[in-house]
Amino acid sequence: MPLLNAIVEKSIEIDNKIFLLKVYSPALTANVKPGQFINVRVSETIYPLLRRPFSVCDVEGDYFYLMFNIYGEGTKILSRKEKGEQLDILGPLGNGFNIDGDFDTAVIVAGGLGAAPFPFFTRMIDKEKEVLSFIGGRSSHDVITYEMKNVSVATDDGSRGYHGNVIALLQNKIDELKSKKIKMFSCGPSAMLRALKTFAIENNFECEVSTECAMACGFGICQGCPIESTQHPDKYLLVCKDGPVFNVKDVVI
Ligand SMILES: Cc1cc2nc3c(=O)[nH]c(=O)nc-3n(C[C@H](O)[C@H](O)[C@H](O)COP(=O)(O)OP(=O)(O)OC[C@H]3O[C@@H](n4cnc5c(N)ncnc54)[C@H](O)[C@@H]3O)c2cc1C
Ligand code: FES
Repeated sequence: MPLLNAIVEKSIEIDNKIFLLKVYSPALTANVKPGQFINVRVSETIYPLLRRPFSVCDVEGDYFYLMFNIYGEGTKILSRKEKGEQLDILGPLGNGFNIDGDFDTAVIVAGGLGAAPFPFFTRMIDKEKEVLSFIGGRSSHDVITYEMKNVSVATDDGSRGYHGNVIALLQNKIDELKSKKIKMFSCGPSAMLRALKTFAIENNFECEVSTECAMACGFGICQGCPIESTQHPDKYLLVCKDGPVFNVKDVVI
């Protein structure tokens, strides 16, 4: 498993307590695909012990970006990294989104920090396909549209865009969506992914979702990140190795 040395370029607070960490690592940027993640050792001390997984948010030349907000100790330490600090990362990990295929329009559906993988995704797909981005949040403070294209916003409290959740917004646009050859790509809270699964199946839309769970190793050894398979009810898949991206029909969300 590639253990890479990377060098922090800068940490930027973009909006609403969302941080972007810009990191130099030609070894990672040469190989990473949209939807893949890295497992970061945030500190050189024993605490926090476990690495923390983050989607690769964007890639520019030899630099990549992570996007996060502060949940606990790991993200707090990450937000304070300074230019020139070494970062110990494992990656690229996981499968990533399948952006080839028989569709003309990529429909992104993201909730909150589920937006994190999509700047890179948009950069990679934008020249080949149309991209429509549907972004949801509880309020305008939770809506992240950084580097997204053709954005429609939904907020639960109506403080920005459509008043309602992002799946209701998709339902509102169903005629437009059905008039195109679309594939959906999503990341966000489980409740949103569950509702999207129902919506995609009912409307026969192809849909890939990026899932999250607590992780330790990040590459299939510890068995600590199971997700139930719909195809093989007796078997668990591993989010880190078989995912984090799955065809929405293949997993129990
Ligand atoms: C494949 C994958 C990709 C990910 N990509 C990103 C990303 O791009 N950006 C990002 O911000 N996060 C991402 N995450 C989640 C990220 O790994 C966690 O936010 C991070 O580990 C938190 O570490 P911490 O030490 O700050 O918080 P911890 O000390 O681990 O947690 C502090 C508290 O916050 C809660 N918490 C932690 N993470 C989350 C969360 N995501 N949502 C809600 N509550 C949470 C915990 O349950 C705990 O109560 C990803 C996770 C996976 C599995
Ligand atoms: S995190 Fe160890 S197997 Fe997935």
